[in-house]
Amino acid sequence: MHPAPSVPVPKPSTIVRGLDEYVIGQDDAKRVVAVAVYSHYRKLASPGCGVRIAKSNLLLIGPTGTGKTLTCETLSRLLDVPFVTAEATSLAQTRYVNEEIEAILLRLVERAGGDVARAGRGIVFIDEIDKLKAPRGETRATSGENVQHALLKIMEGAKVKLHDGRYVDTTDVLFVCGGAFVGLAEIMSQSRSFGYIATKDDDNRRILERLNSRVKPTDLFAYGLIPEFTGRLPVVARFGELSRAMLVRIMTEPRDSLQAQFVEVFRQEGVELTVAPRVYEQIAEIATEYKTGARSLRGIFEELVSPILYAVPDDPRIRRVEITSLFADPTLVRAG
Ligand SMILES: Nc1ncnc2c1ncn2[C@@H]1O[C@H](COP(=O)(O)OP(=O)(O)OP(=O)(O)O)[C@@H](O)[C@H]1O
Ligand SMILES: [Mg+2]
Repeated sequence: MHPAPSVPVPKPSTIVRGLDEYVIGQDDAKRVVAVAVYSHYRKLASPGCGVRIAKSNLLLIGPTGTGKTLTCETLSRLLDVPFVTAEATSLAQTRYVNEEIEAILLRLVERAGGDVARAGRGIVFIDEIDKLKAPRGETRATSGENVQHALLKIMEGAKVKLHDGRYVDTTDVLFVCGGAFVGLAEIMSQSRSFGYIATKDDDNRRILERLNSRVKPTDLFAYGLIPEFTGRLPVVARFGELSRAMLVRIMTEPRDSLQAQFVEVFRQEGVELTVAPRVYEQIAEIATEYKTGARSLRGIFEELVSPILYAVPDDPRIRRVEITSLFADPTLVRAG
């Protein structure tokens, strides 16, 4: 029997609104994730209804830097549950997978302030799960497959003994797997089952598109994950590529956006920072070429402001810094 969660379980729409403050776009993925997470924590909050509701572990598919980890992190904050991330690739590199898994759960317990029961309701995010695929045409057990088997056990629910002798029960831990799954689109286009149904009706077409864009366990199997594993990930949320407009919003809209952070950094120096909208568009343009989603935004922005941050402390008369273009010197406005 678990103690009651520290916050009441928010409704899916509330979860989506909470995510909206930090994660830009990805509306479909947010909804899928919100419903899955809501059902999961609702189930924990109202045990013993007689019907055993199976656990819905989540799979997040999408290109790098599009908000998968950010979404999980934000979720754990909204729900006030402990959260850890791990990388499937590093699990595959070790000879001692189970020790590595134990270490992940130990980190979860630490995040839970040493409370194993609280850790037992946490979220574990395992990234790069797509790298565990078996090489094509290979049938013998590869290390990627071993990792999948090891993960299966804890995803199903196991009592894992920590080195300090305590146990973490993973039955109610929400496991979220993530990966870019490069090449999955091609596999899916070959397995589209509803494409031949001709329809002129817009609504029907939308429903068909929805069904066709659903990632099926068989697609993941074709990709190289073992069936037992794909079977444990019934809920799939897809994160899309970020458009240039979205990148601009990412830099300016979230509570802890780059803009908000640097305005604060300059404010602490007694300087007001203004950045023209055009600058964000220029940064987004460059970031799009880097093809790392929103990941490169910070680096580009830092490069822009770091020479200014170097000069500002030397000149206390600077009151305002205006950046009008990525390719022009900023205007420094001094007092007096
Ligand atoms: N949709 C988004 N909204 C707001 N910020 C975002 C979004 N996507 C990415 N970012 C920013 O980019 C950073 C990297 O994103 P995140 O770690 O979520 O990527 P990811 O999808 O997990 O990528 P990877 O597959 O490489 O792990 C975040 O810390 C955040 O600042
Ligand atoms: Mg990530």
